[in-house]
Amino acid sequence: MLENLKAISAAAKDAIAAACDEAAIENLRVQYLGKKGELTAILKQMGSLSAEERPKMGALVNEAKQELEELIAIKRNELKAKAQDEKLKAETIDITMPAKEIKPGKLHPLNTVLDDMINIFQSMGFDVVDGPEVETDYYNFQCLNVPEDHPARDMQDTFYLAENLLLRTQTSAAQIRTMETMKPPIRVICPGRVFRADEVDATHSPVFHQIEGLVVDKGITMCDLKGVLEQFAHEIYGSDTKVKFRPSFFPFTEPSVEVDVTCSECGGKGCRVCKGDGWIEILGAGMVHPNVLRSCGIDPDEYSGFAFGIGLDRLTTTRYKISDIRLLFENDKRFLDQF
Ligand code: DAH
Repeated sequence: MLENLKAISAAAKDAIAAACDEAAIENLRVQYLGKKGELTAILKQMGSLSAEERPKMGALVNEAKQELEELIAIKRNELKAKAQDEKLKAETIDITMPAKEIKPGKLHPLNTVLDDMINIFQSMGFDVVDGPEVETDYYNFQCLNVPEDHPARDMQDTFYLAENLLLRTQTSAAQIRTMETMKPPIRVICPGRVFRADEVDATHSPVFHQIEGLVVDKGITMCDLKGVLEQFAHEIYGSDTKVKFRPSFFPFTEPSVEVDVTCSECGGKGCRVCKGDGWIEILGAGMVHPNVLRSCGIDPDEYSGFAFGIGLDRLTTTRYKISDIRLLFENDKRFLDQF
């Protein structure tokens, strides 16, 4: 039995030393020390020994068992550490490899200018509203005091989707929708895309952008219009900028004005940006026509208001000295990366 014990023990030690992974070591533990293991089998044979030999043999078997248990524990730890090491090595990051280039996006110049404008008007208490790009003839023209066959329609030919459905030619349509849904006092701006059947060239595009403004309350006068628009011009172009109000005509305002500012490039002397004029036209405005108020259910004897429409594209091209409006819509990254 002693010989047998020695042989088993020696074989177990060799096998443990040779084990190459944690699964192998677990198999060896079961093979030798498990319930049906080889060393356990010897313990079971102890009954056949004499009362004298039994404790001696028992002590030897236990000693061998303990020794194997320790060896297994040591080997298991070794293998665990080795496996961990190998895993770490496999996961090392090669920091000499060139990194993937991250190119963060940025705002389109139109959006930068629009955000500035929204901030300016919000600081004056205006809310931002939205209007549909596909409009009815009623909202885009009729309600704005432009009946069918009115000559003012000529300048705003557009794309018709159906008999009375068109791509809006002006954000002014949003004035009507606002007055139909909100009660005075009203103070809103409505930025958005507008469309006209224009030939494309350096200063014309069939798609462009406007910011409509509308104020309706009791006692609103032309002074309020001038104050708000002057404040806007000074904030966007600087406080040295001069602002000129020229009489004009729009069917939905009376009186109507067009507003020019001194050219931010030359300060009014005349240059390439202002085409030698010294002034740049930035918007149309006026006091809301009583017919328009009336068609929205607002009593013109009680309320008055002013409205304005600013061209976003012109403001953007002059601010960044962009010579061709088409560049704003071509999405050429080489151009956009400059802003
Ligand atoms: N809708 C006009 C246009 O596209 C611009 C405009 C002029 C808007 C006067 C207004 C306004 O609100 O009062 O030409």
